[in-house]
Amino acid sequence: MGDEVNAMPRVSRRTFVQRLLNVSLVGTSAVAAWGVISPVWRYLTSPPKPELEAGFERVVVSSLKGLPAGEARAFQYAGLPYQVIHDRGAIYAVSAICTHKGCLVAWDRRRGELVCPCHGSAFDVNGNVKQGPAPRPLPSLKGRIIQDQIVVGGA
Ligand code: FES
Repeated sequence: MGDEVNAMPRVSRRTFVQRLLNVSLVGTSAVAAWGVISPVWRYLTSPPKPELEAGFERVVVSSLKGLPAGEARAFQYAGLPYQVIHDRGAIYAVSAICTHKGCLVAWDRRRGELVCPCHGSAFDVNGNVKQGPAPRPLPSLKGRIIQDQIVVGGA
């Protein structure tokens, strides 16, 4: 009985702590490596749909009654913020990300334009810059009314 207990290798406290630190270091490194590898793995196993990136996927944003003329609504397209605007029977959909420093623009009904709260840039319903400092227009999607539905994206 006593021989079995003595057969176990004796490990000093210092060696035990060193081994524990080594195991922790290996575990932490594995988790960090997975954090880098995981997005690459996901991209390789299920790459994003090219038609979605190009803005070809149609999305119903609202019923026509749900967005009266003169109003706008925020929505997401391919994970990015957009504004859809109903202006006198025409539908416009533009990115809500200001091209100056990336703040979110909002529809100002009174002015009839998209306004950035950060530095005052303003854009028309097509996303064109009406007032800087924004250097470029807002990217836009195709917007239309199909059977009383407001639809954006698509060719
Ligand atoms: Fe919009 Fe500066 S971030 S004007």
